[in-house]
Amino acid sequence: MSQNQAGAAGKFSATQAWGEMGEDATILIFGASGDLTARKLIPALYTLWKTDYLPKKSQIVGIARREKSDEEFRQEMFEAVRSASRTGEVTEENWAQFASRVHYRQVDITDATQYEKLKESLEKLEAAFELSGKRIVYMATAPKLFLPAVEALDTSGMIPCYDDENWMRVVFEKPFGHDLASAQSLSHSLSQHLHESQIYRIDHYLGKETVQNILLFRFGNSIFEPLLNRNHVDHIQITVAESQGMERGRGGYYDQSGALRDVMQNHVLQLLCLIAMEPPALFRGDDIRDEKMKVLQAMRPGDENDIDRWAVAGQYTAAETGEGEILIGYRQEDRIPEVSRRETYIALEAFVDNWRWAGVPFYLRTGKRLPARVSEISVQFKHPPMNLFTTVECEGDMCAMVEAKPNTLVFRIQPHEGIQLTCSTKRPGMQYQIHPVKMDFAYDEEFNTGLPEAYERLLLDVMRGDSTLFTRSDELEAAWRFVTPILEHLEERNEDPEFYPAGSWGPEAADQLLEKNGHHWRKPSVEL
Ligand code: BG6
Repeated sequence: MSQNQAGAAGKFSATQAWGEMGEDATILIFGASGDLTARKLIPALYTLWKTDYLPKKSQIVGIARREKSDEEFRQEMFEAVRSASRTGEVTEENWAQFASRVHYRQVDITDATQYEKLKESLEKLEAAFELSGKRIVYMATAPKLFLPAVEALDTSGMIPCYDDENWMRVVFEKPFGHDLASAQSLSHSLSQHLHESQIYRIDHYLGKETVQNILLFRFGNSIFEPLLNRNHVDHIQITVAESQGMERGRGGYYDQSGALRDVMQNHVLQLLCLIAMEPPALFRGDDIRDEKMKVLQAMRPGDENDIDRWAVAGQYTAAETGEGEILIGYRQEDRIPEVSRRETYIALEAFVDNWRWAGVPFYLRTGKRLPARVSEISVQFKHPPMNLFTTVECEGDMCAMVEAKPNTLVFRIQPHEGIQLTCSTKRPGMQYQIHPVKMDFAYDEEFNTGLPEAYERLLLDVMRGDSTLFTRSDELEAAWRFVTPILEHLEERNEDPEFYPAGSWGPEAADQLLEKNGHHWRKPSVEL
């Protein structure tokens, strides 16, 4: 497809995005002084506005405990948007237009008595801007405030019935629970106040363009899908690697959470669902989520009495990088106890026990302070049934005849987003020698526009009431059901995790996890 065609097809208009509704909503951000609001939410709303996806009259209200005027809040957000915007320079003129719809209300959301005042103030604001009172509440707060805030919204009469035309949709950031029991209890308690259709549980990975493309690539082409099953696939690796350690101020949260809860339970398992699920009968939210749910239900962990055989938890230690930079260890990070046993890395071997995938290992890993920030899914196909061809490979003076490498299909989620297929071809010459080649599609070469940020897409979907890219309660519980025994095992065992030097690809025990099956982790390069 040429760039022009791609551009035309890729840009659907705001009217199409909104269907016939064209609705205006009041967007309330609870936790407006937090990092997420400044780094992700306001920049995403600004870009939606700039690209005409934000409904014309919508108003944005930041809500937090600190005293602040509208003007002070706008100024803080201006700085944030300037450093985060992906749509070019944020001019004073553009900002002034956008900022006129940004407001601030000082409310202690833990104090139920303050909601009456909030309600009155919102009604006044909505009347002034001729809004009908459709509201989105974004809970960008500490998770322990989710329930008290929803209870207080309800008590103050702010939650309309779910089928009322003046709807309220509530968005919850992760973590949603910290294990199966707490996630079930939170869902149950919220269901006393909100209908499931009003609840939007965010997993920002689902908003990434490349993640959405997994389904289109699989079910929009007929040549790959027949190969994605146990007859052709040897194993699948899913990697969410990060080079950063603890970002500023994050240690307190992370030490309660760890890699298993922070990324494996949500982002990695969602990627697994998308690569393993069956095609839905229709491309509709619940049909897709039903298929993802079946994958989670079919997931078989290893033996619960021998979790150490199929799960490896690691923690990074201080190390010097190749460039001479000293990286501190996890235990030296801000707000981390010196004796913390929290895992900053987790690798698992899992199986999806269904007709399509029985017997195919899925190797899953995520960690902090790995050599690069790379997220990808790699499907490794089986070797051809006979090795007719070999090639000579040399390392230094040592040369050997080696067989063809198996084909791999890699979905690169980030960075250098794209898809790559590796194949064997004949090396030109008088002999039959194998040469591996890569066929790839790179977003930045194919499309001349940047990729939308995950939060732009997800916020737009909340506004138009499309919950396809949000996690349903049964999905969430199934994911917790899978990881909870591992969490409990790590907590009961109460031993140091496997240590790995910061900047390496994780502990040796994680390599052994694959080597016992004759497999090896890919070492993804930052380039595709
Ligand atoms: C978040 C985790 O959900 O995902 C973070 O809490 C992690 O710890 C982040 O850094 C990774 O997201 P991304 O989009 O940078 O890959």
